[in-house]
Amino acid sequence: MRERLRIALTKGRLLEQSAELLERVGLNCGPIRSPGRRLVHALPNYPLDAVLAKAPDVITYVEHGVCDLGIVGRDTILEKGGTFYEVLDLELGVCRFALAVKEGSDFYGSYRTRRVASKYPCLTRAYFAQKGMDVDVIQIEGSVELAPILGLADAIVDIVETGATLKANGLIPIETVETVSARLIVNTASMKLYKDLILDFIERCEKGVEQA
Ligand code: PRP
Repeated sequence: MRERLRIALTKGRLLEQSAELLERVGLNCGPIRSPGRRLVHALPNYPLDAVLAKAPDVITYVEHGVCDLGIVGRDTILEKGGTFYEVLDLELGVCRFALAVKEGSDFYGSYRTRRVASKYPCLTRAYFAQKGMDVDVIQIEGSVELAPILGLADAIVDIVETGATLKANGLIPIETVETVSARLIVNTASMKLYKDLILDFIERCEKGVEQA
């Protein structure tokens, strides 16, 4: 039995917003705001150790129970799946998955099999399967906007936050696939083992969301 919980936080844009939420309900997040190269940080005024990880790894650590809790985008949850409780929409990092094409191109205008590039191949396949449309999905690791520009794909499925990246690259969104935001996830065994600690943390997060 541990006396402290361990949470995996997604590095990058979500980290600052996660720290803001936790600070609103009294947790001192100083150590994760200036983490340096260190990856594990004990919060000084709450029984919580924070681990900083890449989004898919947040899910891996929570699934394996080495972290009790995690904060991760719904986009990663949809793509990777896994066994854990998704307990709360933290309403952080709100953005959408959009299908986008080169300005002026007609994605649905021909019968040949379309090629769609994405960092999220599973989600993209599921989206077109549900439409009953056969597409070739090409997995790209980043800067997916390049794929239609270079002629590799007819369209992309990607995260759109402000729309600036699409615009700067001559692409336009034509459909919203899904709206996404960050979620609080909990390991299934930890939920039983550390129920009181976890419920206190969830309540604080709920308050943090209300106070936003
Ligand atoms: C994400 C996404 C878009 C961009 C959207 O990329 O894949 O490229 O942000 O943001 P915007 O609508 O506000 O312009 P990210 O910065 O995570 O980098 P990546 O493309 O290399 O993965």
